[in-house]
Amino acid sequence: MKITAFSAHKFEHSYLQEALSGHVLKLLEMRLTMDTVGLAAGSDAVAVFVTDNCSRPVLEKMKEMGVRFLALRSAGFNHVDLSVAEKLGIKVARVPEYSPAAIAEHTVALMLALNRKLVKAHNRVRDLNFSLDGLVGFDMEGKTIGIAGTGKIGGKVAKTLSGFGCSLLAYDPYINEGLKEEVAITYVDFKTLCNKSDIITLHLPLSPESKYMINVSSIDHMKKGVMLINTSRGALVNTKEVIEALKTGQIGSFGMDVYEEEEDLFFEDHSEDILQDDVIARLLTFQNVLITSHQAFLTKEALAKIANITAYNLNCWTNNEPSPNELKGG
Ligand code: NAI
Repeated sequence: MKITAFSAHKFEHSYLQEALSGHVLKLLEMRLTMDTVGLAAGSDAVAVFVTDNCSRPVLEKMKEMGVRFLALRSAGFNHVDLSVAEKLGIKVARVPEYSPAAIAEHTVALMLALNRKLVKAHNRVRDLNFSLDGLVGFDMEGKTIGIAGTGKIGGKVAKTLSGFGCSLLAYDPYINEGLKEEVAITYVDFKTLCNKSDIITLHLPLSPESKYMINVSSIDHMKKGVMLINTSRGALVNTKEVIEALKTGQIGSFGMDVYEEEEDLFFEDHSEDILQDDVIARLLTFQNVLITSHQAFLTKEALAKIANITAYNLNCWTNNEPSPNELKGG
């Protein structure tokens, strides 16, 4: 099969080349957009990442060029117009799960780095400033962690923090019975979770119900100085309202791996550009905010799994078989 992979970052080249060695693979660093879709001419399949544009006009152009398959190198698929793809007869498949541990471990890394002010401490020592003033953290042991969403990733976070001796609260309409058997975790409503938690961490999908669940009114219910961590989706959080709460100290620290407006910012080097996004610019001024650029998934194991499952989906199609990871129109 001839495959064009868009948004193929250097960090994944070797994994994709190895997994797709039986195919003719073209790796392109640029994003899939209306302007770049023409580069897939002659391909049977297009492989895309979360920042690629798979809207109606792009899919229509793909169809016109003879592309029949769309392989998502991600679990999320809100960047794809599935109903249009189905109408056009373009098959779409995703990588439903790659490494919940990678995201859970990055979540805990953000918590620990913020709590123990590791970035500040490191910068200070590099400056030959060995003073400890301003670096006081807190024991994780005994603290209450509120986990919103206790699926694969939230469950791993719960197990890790249980090992730290934390008390665990969960908010999720679906009770994870398996998790309850492994760790002491109490399911509560979201207001109670906000009210009682020293750290709140988000592990649920973005939906109309969950959009901006962290907003001025939920923040008002939180303990003063709460730590908030978001490694799920940017729009779970109303970032402007979080900034206001950081200014008053109502939110004590904020770790984010995802950002609502990340599409034009994350995954790329903008070090030569003038930053146009005033919200991220304000966030960068806070000492108690730690931002990573959607890298929670970025482990060798996760990259290998993403490449292998993408290859599996494409191999199914090459053999005229359906893939169990196919997505149907919405
Ligand atoms: P999952 O499907 O295993 O678990 C999600 C949980 O959220 C489920 O238990 C579900 O019942 C719960 N949930 C759904 N709607 C809810 C609501 N309105 N309120 C409370 N709970 C709700 O998903 P998984 O694999 O644990 O992923 C969680 C999120 O992590 C994904 O939705 C995605 O946004 C994010 N993610 C982030 C990555 C990163 O690199 N930063 C990589 C992969 C996923």
